[in-house]
Amino acid sequence: MQIITDIKKIRTIIAQAKRRGQSIGFVPTMGALHTGHASLIQKSRRENAVTVLSVFVNPKQFGAREDFAAYPREKNKDCLFAKKQKVDIIFYPSVNKIYPRSFLTSIKVDRITKTLCGRFRPGHFDGVALVVTKLLNIVTPDVLYLGQKDAQQCAVLKQLVRDLDIPVKINICPTVRENDGLAMSSRNQYLTPKQRREAPVLYRALRDARQKIQNGERRTARVIKHIAALIRHNSSGRIQYIECVNADTLQPLQGLRGEVLIALAVWFGKARLIDNIIVKI
Ligand code: PAJ
Repeated sequence: MQIITDIKKIRTIIAQAKRRGQSIGFVPTMGALHTGHASLIQKSRRENAVTVLSVFVNPKQFGAREDFAAYPREKNKDCLFAKKQKVDIIFYPSVNKIYPRSFLTSIKVDRITKTLCGRFRPGHFDGVALVVTKLLNIVTPDVLYLGQKDAQQCAVLKQLVRDLDIPVKINICPTVRENDGLAMSSRNQYLTPKQRREAPVLYRALRDARQKIQNGERRTARVIKHIAALIRHNSSGRIQYIECVNADTLQPLQGLRGEVLIALAVWFGKARLIDNIIVKI
């Protein structure tokens, strides 16, 4: 495995691989790697000759009062993890390399960045869109691997790639969970033992809601109320939002129909946890 910090250097290595006719799979991350990230890496390895993993805690996607400074940075551990997963190239740039002092450009994706998490994290998805555009320009992969856990991120990046004609295929991978159903996340590290015991209620509530819909419930408000009650009764979590939206457009639904994304964000102490489920009606 090669550990590359320099943009020019990674461009050269990737150009060589492309000349050999090798396809490039790309898994962008912010590090603190876990089994969720590993599932994306393995998918890429199965489908491509070369798998590139990037680790970059992107300052532009954190709000002023968010956890940029506290976000776990574990370079040695992550490199070891990536090596075990047989990543070919790990791209580990510094903030200055990605955003030199002269940097002036921004990207704004409209509408789908305004619902769900976007309502509470203004600018977050524009920061994601900006860094992913840069990374795609540097790595020029054939396939970009993303996790369904971040459903809105997937929708925004699909829109970005379509709108800007970026020549990359997007492959969305299922959410990897702990045995008790909690979606794996670098932010689970922030949970106290009590919060960790309570947090699986999020997925239980989402599954329960799906069952209710499959049993015939079509009233959005009822579904949301049911999820909220389960979370409130079984945990100390503070609900930020629970929404049912169209899975493609992320716009709110009155009656439930088509492909429905039920998504939520709940605070457990310092940890803001998100999860979602798709129900096809
Ligand atoms: P990060 O949170 O590190 O996640 C990197 C990728 O792993 C994302 O595509 C995310 O959806 C996926 N992922 C995280 N947890 C997962 C799980 N439990 N199951 C399946 N996939 C999971 O998302 C980001 O970083 C950043 O916003 C990034 C795209 C790298 C841009 O900075």
